[in-house]
Amino acid sequence: MTAHADREGRTDAPGRADNSGRTGVWFIGARGSVATTATAGCAAIAAGLHPPTGMVTETPPFADSGLPPLTSLVFGGHDTLDCPLAKRAEVLAEGGVLPHRLPSAVRAELDAADAEIRPGGPLPGDTRTDEELIAAFAADLTDFAHRHELARTVVINVSSTEPAPGPDDPRLPASSLYAAAALRAGCSYANFTPSTGLRAPALTDTVADCGLPHAGRDGKTGQTLLRSVLAPMFLQRALPVRAWSGSNLLGGGDGAALADPAAAAAKNAGKERVLTDTFGTAPEGEVHIDDVPAMGDWKTAWDHIAFDGFLGSRMVLQTIWQGCDSALAAPLALDLARLLARSHEAGLSGPRPELGFYFKDPDGGTSAALAEQYATLLAFAERLRGQA
Ligand SMILES: NC(=O)c1ccc[n+]([C@@H]2O[C@H](COP(=O)([O-])OP(=O)(O)OC[C@H]3O[C@@H](n4cnc5c(N)ncnc54)[C@H](O)[C@@H]3O)[C@@H](O)[C@H]2O)c1
Repeated sequence: MTAHADREGRTDAPGRADNSGRTGVWFIGARGSVATTATAGCAAIAAGLHPPTGMVTETPPFADSGLPPLTSLVFGGHDTLDCPLAKRAEVLAEGGVLPHRLPSAVRAELDAADAEIRPGGPLPGDTRTDEELIAAFAADLTDFAHRHELARTVVINVSSTEPAPGPDDPRLPASSLYAAAALRAGCSYANFTPSTGLRAPALTDTVADCGLPHAGRDGKTGQTLLRSVLAPMFLQRALPVRAWSGSNLLGGGDGAALADPAAAAAKNAGKERVLTDTFGTAPEGEVHIDDVPAMGDWKTAWDHIAFDGFLGSRMVLQTIWQGCDSALAAPLALDLARLLARSHEAGLSGPRPELGFYFKDPDGGTSAALAEQYATLLAFAERLRGQA
């Protein structure tokens, strides 16, 4: 299902006319920590059990931008695990990620979302071709939209980070199969992970012709968020950075996935890109990620920044970020779902650089500085308000 885009990226994309219906949010990796926290959190906020802390779209500048209300979101997704969502939420509550009583308070919403999670793939031994997998995933999305009479659906990849595919790999990586399926089913798409998604060379034409809004890649939630604030500060104060080194300790499913050096390399490339884009060249220094299963979903990120002051005096800034990864990521996933749904409704298509605020490696060319990205996002809210 594709639509024709004009020069402004406006289209007659599917679902544009319906302003009253509900919006689907389809998570790839629907049983993971981020997706479970987002699904449970949305239900808790919609029920008035918790304030929308960390949701930028719930702040005053977005009030009249026509974003779909949280109460109108319907959740589903793909995952290769079959652990019930309510059970995943209980495990997150035991780990202090979710408030203790939350899983039981939103049990009905978790069970409803659980019933909409379809088997992902490809699993070991799966003999389906790429085309068959894309068709199967797209059919799941179409079925979801029809049964719930959704105005539109946003697909958000929050699945485990994959290693980057090799140049001669004949198969598309799973993230790209799902991304292609999203476009085929007429859904907007966000890639919250460092995985390939829509950036597979084989999908270039499909993406160019899709007539749908999309954004990525890799959510900016902690260490890189801080880098996108601090790096412009050094630049603007004319303080040359000699070296910028970082180390991360984390557990959970993400920590386990990133224990694979190839997956970690994909992640670190995004963290370093913020520095390269700001300074023009990469300063000396590396980023390391260590899997510490005992930390669960909690992460410690340490940065060591060596810089020069007046007359060559040598100085150092060190930062320590201690955060709960899923609690940082979940509100951003909900923001992205609402902003992409609204973009789709407004007939916008193609990469949305206005959403660069949310990503380490944004689609569509944008400043790497958080302050500029925020200003661009606010201008986008204003533009959507004009079309509401
Ligand atoms: N939490 C953060 O702050 C943050 C920030 C930026 C990016 N991310 C990215 O978000 C993603 C999710 O993080 P998480 O902590 O929820 O991880 P997680 O390990 O808890 O969840 C990942 C889920 O993906 C599922 N999955 C794996 N392969 C799949 C496939 N082929 N098809 C469908 N599902 C599949 C797993 O079964 C699991 O349920 C990771 O890629 C992570 O790098 C997280």
